[in-house]
Amino acid sequence: MSQEGEGARAARRLEGRRLLLGVSGSIAAYKAVELLRRLVAEGAQVQVLMTHAATAFVGPLTFETLSGHPVLHDPLELLPDQRIAHVVAARESDAILVAPATAHWMAAMAHGLAGDLITAACLAAAVPVVVAPAMDAGMYAHPATRANLDRLRAFGYTVVEPATGPLASGLVGEGRLAEPPIIVSAVIAALARPAARSRRDLAGRHVVVTAGGTAEPIDPVRFIGNRSSGRMGIEIARAAMERGARVTLIVGQVSVPLPVGASIVAASSSAEMQRAVLDALPGADALVMAAAVADFRPRHPASTKLTRDVAPVLELEPTEDILAEAARRVQDQALRPVLVGFAAETGSLDRVAEKARRKGVDLLVANDVLEPGSGFGVETNRVTLVASDGTREPWPLLPKRDVADRLLDRVATLLQSRGGRAGAAAAGAAAAGAAAGGAAAAIAGTALEAPVHGPDPQPVAPSRTAEEVSE
Ligand code: CTP
Repeated sequence: MSQEGEGARAARRLEGRRLLLGVSGSIAAYKAVELLRRLVAEGAQVQVLMTHAATAFVGPLTFETLSGHPVLHDPLELLPDQRIAHVVAARESDAILVAPATAHWMAAMAHGLAGDLITAACLAAAVPVVVAPAMDAGMYAHPATRANLDRLRAFGYTVVEPATGPLASGLVGEGRLAEPPIIVSAVIAALARPAARSRRDLAGRHVVVTAGGTAEPIDPVRFIGNRSSGRMGIEIARAAMERGARVTLIVGQVSVPLPVGASIVAASSSAEMQRAVLDALPGADALVMAAAVADFRPRHPASTKLTRDVAPVLELEPTEDILAEAARRVQDQALRPVLVGFAAETGSLDRVAEKARRKGVDLLVANDVLEPGSGFGVETNRVTLVASDGTREPWPLLPKRDVADRLLDRVATLLQSRGGRAGAAAAGAAAAGAAAGGAAAAIAGTALEAPVHGPDPQPVAPSRTAEEVSE
């Protein structure tokens, strides 16, 4: 049976959805044609926007024929009623997909430059944005591109990582546009998320989240650390704010951008993190310990830099168990905060029920970091949720952001079943949540703060399309 026949038989996953497909100037623009076919086959109404450079690779007529709508490629185009065409299209869409996204386009978007109509549309619309980069491997690996990608992620955009394979340059490397079915799935997942995000079920709550790895000093220069990027905890913090919570984010060593609107506390070592957590605990409604806290630290860190002439023998001592101490401190409180731990295991999850009991947590998020797609430095995670009674719920492989949403569903349910102070605060909470887009905070050595989609972004004035490099 043909693909179309199979698609027609299966449920159409984008039925009734209005999408903008932004095509920028890459050789991979020809693959956007296949992508468009698949989006339409899934039931989507698709409006295509092309940059000036993209029209040099594929003619607008192809996209017009397949989408059934005129392609927008002139930022100055006005509708008959004089409204700006691409701003109206953006505001009427459910999601924006940019595929292929060139290095140039991502740089413009990362800096909010509304020089082409796709960046202008993204700036004008408060809808999920999915970005599928395509470029030469060297360009993709360049720190400028990586920083721009991090910025787009910090805006809340979904980035569909490119694949490794032969490139237009003749080289083989990472930079090929991801396969169309993967991109379509990412759009479907991004559209599913706003349902969770629009819930304000943490309104009025104070959620304390730890993220990143601790650094245990050996001397003033060196430390014992770990591979944690902080991404999981940061996604939880971001998701909690979007659900209306006031968030204190206690961060160790992190390598991904911090969210806007959280109260950021820097805590380098496990001892500093313990102080920060215990300080933040009074009045907190939930503590989520996603940080990778060292279990051991040098007993006698040197006060001056160790030199190479004498190889040191490090004597280690155990660190304090922050989560267990937090659990002890709150155990007699009438309105105990919900306590969530993480357990990074290697090889098996046999110990996790016992660990949940030992730590005194309500929920333990356990994963096997040796499993493909799970663990450090990746954007996905396959976890098993362990409740305090030992029941285990394995979740599928999910983007970390979706793990965060599901986990907060459980935290919110536990909080509701406990009632208490935050239930009473719900009325005024929408305002508190809206304020979450406020002051930016940063810590030294950590990536930039990111603007977030405001609830009512202002339309941008159209301008001429910037000259775009083609990749
Ligand atoms: N944790 C903590 N303080 C520590 C170590 C860990 O609060 N000194 C927290 C982590 O943030 C995590 C949870 O405890 O939420 C589980 O961490 P993990 O390293 O898996 O557990 P450990 O107690 O270190 O047990 P083990 O090393 O035996 O696996």
